[in-house]
Amino acid sequence: MAKRLDGRLLAARHEASLRSAIAQHLATAGCTTCPPGLAVVRVGDDPASGVYVRKKAQACGRVGIESRIIHHPATASQQQVLESIHQLNGSPSCNGILVQLPIPSTLNARQLLLAVDPAKDVDGLHPLNLGRLMRGEPGLRSCTPAGVMALLDHAGIALDGIRALVIGRSILVGRPMGIMLQQANATVTVAHSRTRDLVDHCRQAELLVVAAGKPGLVGADWVRPGAVVVDVGIHRVPPQQQGTQGTLRGDVCFAAVEPLASHITPVPGGVGPMTVAMLLCNTVQAWQRCTAPPA
Ligand code: GUN
Repeated sequence: MAKRLDGRLLAARHEASLRSAIAQHLATAGCTTCPPGLAVVRVGDDPASGVYVRKKAQACGRVGIESRIIHHPATASQQQVLESIHQLNGSPSCNGILVQLPIPSTLNARQLLLAVDPAKDVDGLHPLNLGRLMRGEPGLRSCTPAGVMALLDHAGIALDGIRALVIGRSILVGRPMGIMLQQANATVTVAHSRTRDLVDHCRQAELLVVAAGKPGLVGADWVRPGAVVVDVGIHRVPPQQQGTQGTLRGDVCFAAVEPLASHITPVPGGVGPMTVAMLLCNTVQAWQRCTAPPA
């Protein structure tokens, strides 16, 4: 039976150390320093985004980060959203900016992400930060893959030389995940919707990171016994009966895969809380950089 990689527990530890890092930094920097600030720019009413944004704001409150949500209607123009990003770039009380995805298809998401000051890009999605990741230089890292790396590290999973398969090649998860694993000396394959013989690739993988966006894609017969299985998917299953709450599930058939994997992330409670924890870490890092006394 697989060991569960508990994202809630590890995220809570990160939150505890961030809370004390913030208090300590405020105490040493003196009363002229503001607490860290995170701004989330949301456009439209995607219901899943509403849940994620609320969770991020609640987590900020727990550690002492001041958060604000700038919510534009789906009919907002590119110029209006760009203007709020420019304002946040210039605001000293805002240390981190996140543009919640997806953005309505009427807008140019690429241009919005490019408008974020790279020093405040706590999502690690600005080309400069992605370039730094590519080169292995310090910089703000994408939260979900960074959260996966933290979970693997905490569980003591040795990545050196292992055969890793990432399913999904999004800029948010799959691509940065592949680079991070490669930098940890894994031998990485990034599979996607056009990959031939996906099941064969899966069966060979010692580490499987599934970010395909397809509920229940990976079943027991796809997984090599003893593999580490990380499920990035999160899907709401509609309630079967009126009045019952919908449940969440991932891209992996958890019940079928748990008996044969060596480690597995649950959904919910695996990667999701770690994404939020890494966002908090990035915000505090950006705040410490801009409030540090000159050397
Ligand atoms: N939408 C779903 N997850 C994320 C995330 O981690 N960052 C952003 N910006 N949008 C998301």
